[in-house]
Amino acid sequence: MIKQAIIPLAGLGTRMLPLTSVMPKELMPINGKPNLQYILDECIDAGVKEFIFIISKKKLSIKKYFFNDNLYTKILKKKKDKRLLEEYKKIKRYQKMIKFVYQNKPKGTGDAVFKCKKFIKSKYFLMLLPDDLIINKNCSKEMIRLHKKTNGSIIATKRVERKTVSRWGILSIRNKKKGYFQIQDVVEKPSIKKAPSNFAIIGRYILTRKIFDEIKKLKPGQGGEIHITDAIRRLIKKESKFYGNIFKGKYLDCGTLSGYINSGIQISKRK
Ligand code: G1P
Repeated sequence: MIKQAIIPLAGLGTRMLPLTSVMPKELMPINGKPNLQYILDECIDAGVKEFIFIISKKKLSIKKYFFNDNLYTKILKKKKDKRLLEEYKKIKRYQKMIKFVYQNKPKGTGDAVFKCKKFIKSKYFLMLLPDDLIINKNCSKEMIRLHKKTNGSIIATKRVERKTVSRWGILSIRNKKKGYFQIQDVVEKPSIKKAPSNFAIIGRYILTRKIFDEIKKLKPGQGGEIHITDAIRRLIKKESKFYGNIFKGKYLDCGTLSGYINSGIQISKRK
């Protein structure tokens, strides 16, 4: 059973400056709802019961967004606002599920995940990067289904244009079946020449606790950061139970300004 989800939120958001100079990108509204809330709702619908948010001192406003009871109770005491009451109830529901872990130096996704080690109780957990929104289909649910079928680790993936491979983690594949394949290797942001395929990682992972041992052994990689991709690579070499889930639904990249603007347009068009 996958009940816990790790969400790294300590990134600086430099691709979205100047907007992110005062507001975390994960709280920026997309059609009236923060980016992060789409991710939470997807996970809750897929059966997740606990979230571990990795934040930094610079991103305390994420904590405040979910834990600002004084504000709500004061206003609700003064006037009965039905809409606000509903929103507050939602916030209270999230509150019960969220734990915070701190990563004050941006040392990469691997380092962020490692900081959650002591909180992970089961063999497998979900990890989601909040830049990547997937609408129309619940990607986490699909991944959990594939995990149950294969008993292995899962990475959500989509085909991208060859010329864009150096923007992504890219998978080397084998035994392709309908909707999924076995992952043979993974490489972070390869050149077009070195890319083993055009199947890109889209920010959703089901990983085993064994990943922590691999992260521990890593030295800083690309850009001086500890990358989760490098730890995954080591683990794949040791055990082959890694699968790529070719997601259904629509992928939206919220990590760049143009992608963010487009996400708002796409979500508002949704039926
Ligand atoms: C991260 C991952 C990369 C993945 C991408 C998806 O990169 O390291 O493997 O393909 O997210 O959005 P980042 O967006 O942090 O550069």
